[in-house]
Amino acid sequence: MSYYQRHVFFCLNQRSNGEASCADHDAQAAFDHCKSRVKQLGLAGKDGVRVNKAGCLDRCAGGPVAVVYPEAVWYSWVDQSDIDEIVESHLRDGQVVERLVLPDSVGR
Ligand code: FES
Repeated sequence: MSYYQRHVFFCLNQRSNGEASCADHDAQAAFDHCKSRVKQLGLAGKDGVRVNKAGCLDRCAGGPVAVVYPEAVWYSWVDQSDIDEIVESHLRDGQVVERLVLPDSVGR
């Protein structure tokens, strides 16, 4: 058993050269919302869920992006209700939210 049951990494990268970056899509707000929902639902901590910031994950064309381990499922989303669905369905109940999964073809 790993220390966390699920570990989520949100790309919060901001580029200054005009190229696409997740921060252009309000990734910080999604990260903050996810972290707070995980806490509210009592999921945070050892044997539970950890939500971390990350730099560029090199899948910028699909931004905003986050990845959930150990399943290695990549997500992109539109609004807070999508984040709520990821938290409740995947992080809490273990069910991948297929409609929000980032296709494998999306890269930088
Ligand atoms: S800027 Fe977010 S994946 Fe590259």
